[in-house]
Amino acid sequence: MKILITGNMGYVGPCLVSHLKTSIPNVILIGLDMGYFATCLSNSDILPECRTDIQYFGDVRKIKKSILEGVDAIVHLSAISNDPMGKTYEAVTMDINYKASVQLAKTAKEMGVKTFVFASSCSMYGAAEDSARTEASPLNPLTAYAKSKVYTEKDINEIAGDEFAVTSLRFSTACGMSPRLRLDLVLNDFVAGAIASNQITILSDGTPWRPLINVKDMARAIEWAISRDTTSGGEFLAVNVGSNEWNYQVKDLAYAVKEVIPDVEVSINKNAAPDKRSYRVNFDYYKKLAPDHQPKYNLIDTIEELRDGLESMGFNDEKFRDSNYMRLNMLNQLRGKGLLNENLEWA
Ligand SMILES: NC(=O)c1ccc[n+]([C@@H]2O[C@H](COP(=O)([O-])OP(=O)(O)OC[C@H]3O[C@@H](n4cnc5c(N)ncnc54)[C@H](O)[C@@H]3O)[C@@H](O)[C@H]2O)c1
Repeated sequence: MKILITGNMGYVGPCLVSHLKTSIPNVILIGLDMGYFATCLSNSDILPECRTDIQYFGDVRKIKKSILEGVDAIVHLSAISNDPMGKTYEAVTMDINYKASVQLAKTAKEMGVKTFVFASSCSMYGAAEDSARTEASPLNPLTAYAKSKVYTEKDINEIAGDEFAVTSLRFSTACGMSPRLRLDLVLNDFVAGAIASNQITILSDGTPWRPLINVKDMARAIEWAISRDTTSGGEFLAVNVGSNEWNYQVKDLAYAVKEVIPDVEVSINKNAAPDKRSYRVNFDYYKKLAPDHQPKYNLIDTIEELRDGLESMGFNDEKFRDSNYMRLNMLNQLRGKGLLNENLEWA
């Protein structure tokens, strides 16, 4: 099986590549990435891209058809992939996350690719504190990033069919160790603060709800989507990926970190403006469809894994929120040096 993974050089990609190499016998993995975060390695002894069979450096907005020749499945990860980046680079977010994704799906179908797995996000539910959202619930995207996922999902639904199976995985917020660790994710931020300064600073009042998932469980969900029986959900399927037990309020995440790393002070910003992005999500459908690929990690395992990973890196940067572990900082730095132009193309 030949699988193209776009955006394989980010946070999720290296975990996915390792997982697919061990779970699908004789798989051929092709990576395609702009390499924005290529230098942001954290705890890796090797360049993770050594594990792909072919690595392209390129822009998904200008993908060459020849790259898709003979490809059986695409896992489409490449994106400007969080709210702060989407706010700063709004037009580019729409171009990369939405327009390029739809174009890629169209071209893939024309080229005879059979399977398209799209990395979507539960952030499309936006504000949903009253009851846990199911796949049938109304969408309420509050940011450019979330909107880009909603628009893409709608359009690729229309492209699906005639032996082109599309799965949109609406992921919970990721957490956990990766060879390209990110600290702009809530749980990772809390563990980093605890390790570097014995402080967890909650920027909100701590009440927003977030569903979370370990990044390695995301990889297992993608493996399931690649090989799912299309009779179970037709040729288009959108499914929430996570588990009901992993719906947490932000303050509970902080106190769970304190359980693992006890000498930590948790500060809550009681005067913070309410964070509208608060949602609980129902994952029953994923449990029904993919009983053998349910999340394996629990919250405490994940915190311990992050603690051990950060400690083994000798991590002690109290100002990590100003570092390149925050994706927006990395993009801004490349822009500031004139290496990327305003469209986030290499200058
Ligand atoms: N991390 C999360 O919490 C989370 C949650 C839900 C969904 N997702 C989705 O999963 C996917 C992967 O997330 P991630 O955390 O690994 O993101 P990431 O930002 O770490 O990685 C994205 C990768 O895409 C690449 N990329 C961006 N624009 C590109 C372009 N024009 N052409 C080629 N490559 C390009 C970047 O260089 C980067 O390596 C994204 O689509 C994201 O929206 C992530």
